[in-house]
Amino acid sequence: MTISGKTRVCGVIGDPIEHTLSPAIQNAAFNNLKLDFVFLPFKVRSAELENAMRGMRGLGIHGLNVTMPHKKAVTGFLDEIDQTAKFLGAVNTILNDDGRLCGFNTDGVGALKALKENGVTLSGQKVLLLGAGGAAKAIAFSLAKEVGELVILNRATEKAKELAKALKRTSNEKVTSDMLSPKAMQKHLQDAGLLINATSVGMHPNAGESLIAARWLKPELVVMDIVYNPLETSLMKDAKAKGAQVINGIEMLIHQGAASFEIWTGRSAPIEVMRKAVLNELRSAGASK
Ligand code: ATR
Repeated sequence: MTISGKTRVCGVIGDPIEHTLSPAIQNAAFNNLKLDFVFLPFKVRSAELENAMRGMRGLGIHGLNVTMPHKKAVTGFLDEIDQTAKFLGAVNTILNDDGRLCGFNTDGVGALKALKENGVTLSGQKVLLLGAGGAAKAIAFSLAKEVGELVILNRATEKAKELAKALKRTSNEKVTSDMLSPKAMQKHLQDAGLLINATSVGMHPNAGESLIAARWLKPELVVMDIVYNPLETSLMKDAKAKGAQVINGIEMLIHQGAASFEIWTGRSAPIEVMRKAVLNELRSAGASK
């Protein structure tokens, strides 16, 4: 990589930011397509978010990813926000379009692409979504109009109810919510074709945990987990053992990164290069533990 006076600067803002995988993914993609872009991590404390956005304008930073804890708050400092990000009340990608800061949210599109690229049929399918936090909301928004039926279960039931209500009104009559109880999960899994864990259950350091009992799983089910640390969660292990197709959390991460890349560069993202980069990064992070 050669930095010149013409190099466009992109990056990611968040706090903490030390463990971000985005620089590895994005720089690998820029290098692969020989684009004169560079991607850097920026640790931005909440009290400095407004200054950081001024910095983006002042320094002419071309694009940013936005991660915890700024996805909601950053919406107050942008000139324009696209429909999806507006519905979600959260932005994960900013494009500096000649001084106009435009906000997008690529999380849901990332999940949708991850499913489609892995050959999952969505049309007519009953989908069981666990979670109603930021990631779950983005996934639900993208999936609602593509699937036959969507059932959202969340520990805080009220959040699932509200999300289902909003989506029912705007995208699909057949979006409902239920309690995150063993009884409800078991019932919905009987005729669901796709199960998505969009909660943090199963994430390091609680890697052994799963909301779903292995005996409720079946070979015809597709299981996607958004958790990517560990790469294979307990839920995924159980699903694999039953002969079900599994899609890991890296896929959503790569495809949401790819969608951001396309917003900043106008080029098709080199998915395989991005996948290799993230797997390398995870391997070396694991090795240095
Ligand atoms: P993200 O942006 O990654 O989605 P989040 O908005 O904090 O993070 O959402 C975390 C999700 O995991 C929520 O759906 C949360 O459920 P609550 O809304 O009830 O808090 C879910 N979650 C986290 N820990 C959980 C647990 N032990 N059991 C069930 N759900 C859990």
